[in-house]
Amino acid sequence: MHQLRDFLLNQRRISGWTQEELSERSGVSVRTIRNLETGSNTNPRRTSVALLLTALGAAPASLSETGPWGGGSGLALMPQQRSESQLERTTTLPPWRGPRPLGDPLVGRSADTRHILAAAQRSRLIVLTGPGGVGKTRLALAAASRLRPLFRDGVAVAELHDCPPEHLEPEGARAELTRVTQGLTRADDHQRGSAHSGRQLLVLDGAEHVAQQTARTVRQLLDEHPGLHLLVTSRRALAVGAAETWEVGPLCVDGQDSRDMTVPSAVELFLHRVQSSLPTLDLGRHLPLVSRLCRLLDGVPLAIEIAAQRLRSLPLTSLLDEETLFQLLDQVDASGLSVHRTLSDSVRWSYDLLPAPHRELLRDLVALPDGFSLDAATTVPSGRSGAVRVAHLLAELADASLIQINRERQYTYRIHALVRHVVGQVERPGGTSSAPWPESDRHPPMAEAEPAAV
Ligand SMILES: Nc1ncnc2c1ncn2[C@@H]1O[C@H](COP(=O)(O)OP(=O)(O)O)[C@@H](O)[C@H]1O
Ligand SMILES: [Mg+2]
Repeated sequence: MHQLRDFLLNQRRISGWTQEELSERSGVSVRTIRNLETGSNTNPRRTSVALLLTALGAAPASLSETGPWGGGSGLALMPQQRSESQLERTTTLPPWRGPRPLGDPLVGRSADTRHILAAAQRSRLIVLTGPGGVGKTRLALAAASRLRPLFRDGVAVAELHDCPPEHLEPEGARAELTRVTQGLTRADDHQRGSAHSGRQLLVLDGAEHVAQQTARTVRQLLDEHPGLHLLVTSRRALAVGAAETWEVGPLCVDGQDSRDMTVPSAVELFLHRVQSSLPTLDLGRHLPLVSRLCRLLDGVPLAIEIAAQRLRSLPLTSLLDEETLFQLLDQVDASGLSVHRTLSDSVRWSYDLLPAPHRELLRDLVALPDGFSLDAATTVPSGRSGAVRVAHLLAELADASLIQINRERQYTYRIHALVRHVVGQVERPGGTSSAPWPESDRHPPMAEAEPAAV
């Protein structure tokens, strides 16, 4: 066991990280790290060891079942910050099926990653929710890649965007989900009867339009496969009791998100994207303007990436006009970045999934100033039906990630500028629907939710 202690101490010091920093990067508590380094914990959980090794760039070649951290099987020590593909070439990482994380670095998100890694030790089901373009897929793939060494049978990623919406074709959605989980079932069956059930991580990406079907499938998979963990992304929360739900918020637009960042993560993402498409454009002297733009975009990564693309043909100052900003951004084809053609498409998708009363209330709410209260929401025309009903609708709008709840002592609500823009536009006479199914079939049955706690 001294081997692990010495290794940890050495690697952490070589990296120049404090115990707190290693904790932030690995998702393992400071207390566990301290106890391991002082030798007072000689029997750590395998998952903790694997997370520490991964954070320190030492991919555990294989975590054998014989000892808590591989029974001295030898560690494949890796230099810092090797890319996923470099790691893959030099070590035996468990297999990865389906779309992979992009090669460029994940900006910010250390707190989210820390939370997800820790949640993966507590629960077999993690659901990442949040509005379109906020970075759910990106974060899920990055987290899955960090968790990969822990899953002997590997990681499988299934994109659900192409599943037909369940309210139109329940059978179709069911068949599609069965298809995407079939490889998994076979891999797992293979393990049946052996002493250890297969350990696999399945990422189901983009479940919002098949939320009910996904919830049913997830419950079934968890029952049938004891070694299976699931990481689901969805704009809409899933009704599965045992889920750990994490709301993915926008990137930070003010201050620092962590000690190693010099600018807020939203600004950093914008600078990264501008640098890769316009390497000669130096925005160093214009950081206050970039910050302002990122604030106007509410720190939503997809909007930030599109704004960075727009800078190829328009100066920064012209993007700072709030009135025209989203119209200018909508002229950019976003299909290379997202499953949607334009930025508005991404919000329209969520909006079109709402039943009529929810759409009506949302349309009225965009007229209120940001940070409105439940009382204020009951003053708009469609909100006069009473506080309980409005609270219920607000809860469902929040579940659909179309409004954000600020949970201070008194709850307040806000609507992202992009949602305001799209909702303000859709109902204009002549506005067309981008819904992929007919108007009459738009509204999926929504589960009756409890009124929001306000
Ligand atoms: N933390 C991040 N660092 C770098 N790029 C990001 C980050 N978050 C999101 N992006 C990029 O922003 C875009 C939208 O993110 P995505 O994960 O597709 O959003 P969502 O799944 O919530 O709709 C993608 O191009 C993605 O690569
Ligand atoms: Mg996504």
